[in-house]
Amino acid sequence: MTSEEHSATGSALDEPAATAGALPARHRVVQWATGGVGRAAIQAVRDHPELDLVACWVHSSDKVGVDAGVIAGIEALGVPATDDVEAILALDADCVVYAPLLPDPAEVARLLRSGKNVVTPVGWFHRSPGDEALEEAAREGGSTLHGTGIDPGGISDVFPLMLSAMSSATTFVRAEEFSDIRSYNAPDVVRQIMCFGGTPEAAMEGPMLGLLTGGFAQSIRLILDGMGFDPSAEIRTSQQVAVATEPIDSPAGVIEPGQVAGQRFCWEAVIDDQPVVRVAVNWLMGTEHLDPAWTLGAAGERYEIEVQGDPDLFVTLKGMQPETPEAGWERNPGVVATANHCVNSIPYVVRAYPGIRTYLDLPVIAGRAHPRFARRS
Ligand SMILES: NC(=O)c1ccc[n+]([C@@H]2O[C@H](COP(=O)([O-])OP(=O)(O)OC[C@H]3O[C@@H](n4cnc5c(N)ncnc54)[C@H](OP(=O)(O)O)[C@@H]3O)[C@@H](O)[C@H]2O)c1
Repeated sequence: MTSEEHSATGSALDEPAATAGALPARHRVVQWATGGVGRAAIQAVRDHPELDLVACWVHSSDKVGVDAGVIAGIEALGVPATDDVEAILALDADCVVYAPLLPDPAEVARLLRSGKNVVTPVGWFHRSPGDEALEEAAREGGSTLHGTGIDPGGISDVFPLMLSAMSSATTFVRAEEFSDIRSYNAPDVVRQIMCFGGTPEAAMEGPMLGLLTGGFAQSIRLILDGMGFDPSAEIRTSQQVAVATEPIDSPAGVIEPGQVAGQRFCWEAVIDDQPVVRVAVNWLMGTEHLDPAWTLGAAGERYEIEVQGDPDLFVTLKGMQPETPEAGWERNPGVVATANHCVNSIPYVVRAYPGIRTYLDLPVIAGRAHPRFARRS
């Protein structure tokens, strides 16, 4: 079977990532950017028994030369950070954890062409029109590109797909986030990109819906394709805002009355006027002093996944959100989980056939045991 035939049938692996009785191979990893996700990824690579960190690219000039472990807040790992892209491209490495602020497809193409696999939370959760140049770069480099994370890249796609396996004749799938956005430690992003603290008009005209739609529409397409829904389903988007009625203290500064303090985004795949897949996020600056008086509900911060079929299935996922907004500033579990999903996918991605490979192509991706409980030979 050729690699094209393999990919057409969805089988993208030569061999399992962990084979009983054999010690798994080791893989050389590059960390690309050291924001919240990048720093958590450095720690996750250190803690992964099959991975070695060999390089770290940074955007910020003041981090150049600083050890990647120190940047991540752990012990020094003997890996000084660099901003030299050519040096990274020339390096012998198996995979790049690509976590910059925004994706640069030309940069990703260069990494792929240099023979490095790329795992990333910034896009490519599914193949999309316009990805031809990246597919070509991956073929040239014999490398694989895999988009992963929590939302998109986890709760909004692969988890509903897994749940759907236990139901039949499915008519509706939903994945929904309920978060207190005060815990998100990126004040510039929260104000400038997410448009909290601005006018409702600015938020409705801002870049957020477009930026989010890129990833969440891919999640929806992954569910439609994976479950055999009519691919011509129309994807509808919606955005709603709530404003503060009193000053709301937030880590991104005080949100004044009349300014945006809550946003809801929704993406729906619709067939014959019937929603069949819904992905939604509810982001609130706390649950007081909002107009409309939105709340997170009695269950509080959470993710919900629902499959309506035979039988109906419903999962509430806790643990991705911090105990308090302030705790999220120190270490946000959702950001850590995003990094872990990237890092844990590496042993599977390095074995995949070249090209953009999704959850529909890869096998079940597992984390690894704590060293105390890991296999000993
Ligand atoms: N799919 C998911 O579930 C998911 C979840 C969380 C985040 N994400 C995405 O993952 C990416 C990283 O998130 P994050 O929370 O780590 O963000 P972050 O904390 O804001 O860090 C982004 C890093 O990007 C680098 N950077 C800043 N400006 C840049 C520029 N102009 N060009 C290139 N790099 C630049 C910096 O790296 P240095 O500090 O090394 O200089 C910065 O620390 C974002 O795109 C975010 O949307 C996805």
